[in-house]
Amino acid sequence: MNKKFAVMAATAALSVAALGTMAQAEESKGLIGVAMPTQDLQRWNQDGENMKAQLEEKGYEVDLQFAGNDPATQASQIENMISNGDQLLVVASIDGDSLGTVLAQAKEAGIPVIAYDRLIMNTDAVSYYATFDNYLVGKTQGQYIVDALDLDNQDGPFNLEMVTGDPGDNNVNFFFGGAMEVLQPYIDAGKLVVPSGQMTKDEVATANWATDAAQSRFENILSSNYADGTNLDAVLASNDSTALGVVNALAANYTGEYPIITGQDCDIANVPHIVDGTQAMSVFKDTRTLAAKVVEMVDAIMTGSEAPVNDTETYDNGTGIIPSYLCEPVAVTVENYKEILIDSGYYTEDQIQ
Ligand code: BGC
Repeated sequence: MNKKFAVMAATAALSVAALGTMAQAEESKGLIGVAMPTQDLQRWNQDGENMKAQLEEKGYEVDLQFAGNDPATQASQIENMISNGDQLLVVASIDGDSLGTVLAQAKEAGIPVIAYDRLIMNTDAVSYYATFDNYLVGKTQGQYIVDALDLDNQDGPFNLEMVTGDPGDNNVNFFFGGAMEVLQPYIDAGKLVVPSGQMTKDEVATANWATDAAQSRFENILSSNYADGTNLDAVLASNDSTALGVVNALAANYTGEYPIITGQDCDIANVPHIVDGTQAMSVFKDTRTLAAKVVEMVDAIMTGSEAPVNDTETYDNGTGIIPSYLCEPVAVTVENYKEILIDSGYYTEDQIQ
């Protein structure tokens, strides 16, 4: 090869390489950090995977992290995302109150933050919030109990117990608040009574939403209040992991008439209980829908257009209202689980046997 030709060839090779890099740069529309709370619970794995797949499909790179339900780990993961140059953060918090410091760094670096499913409190770094209508989740559970016990026509009294989730999760206020808005009038009228007397948010809480914590609290409730043959008529369980704790406690410690038990998420582990009647219902929140909405929000923010919101009144995080998109939850029972969970492709028949 003569010298001139060699230089031309090298230049051509360089331009091909440069073109390749440019094409790569064009391929990635940006790096998005997705911080999820834990892999212990089925839904967050699905949320994380759905977000990653849908963002990648739109041309984004994704930095997906799970924090083992440890707020300090989540804060340091977010710190790393900021220093790694992530351009937008999607965060499902563990403790809604513990991210203020790290998110202040995000704000300073001009990185927008979307609160995913759980509102992040007391920081002005949150641009948007996307979730299911959490208040409606609670109301749906409460109304299910009212209808199943026919409280508008029966005098009762019926015995009720309540199991909610982690007090650091802002959603608990909405789940519990929504359910109590429906149930409290019947408690006031004496149609519902709570034999354990445990009715405040702190008394009915379950640390980390853990099944075994719910189970051991419920075992105590049963041995102190129902061991003499008293019937338990209904349990307000805020989600499926806590409902499972109640189901386990009842299986080993209760022989009375089986109560109505509520739940949320339609976890794989709970669907057989819905089918055999040991859990009356669950509130389904299709994680595909939430992920799709958040991906729309991300894309809008990244391309400078308007992010979709449908609620600008409900979610004040202590620094003002956070514009939100609320997806709709659906009550699932033995009557409709096939249509909603299987026909929609959310689960296969095999997964839930
Ligand atoms: C979510 C629920 C979930 C719970 C426990 C809540 O913030 O909204 O879907 O069951 O956390 O992870």
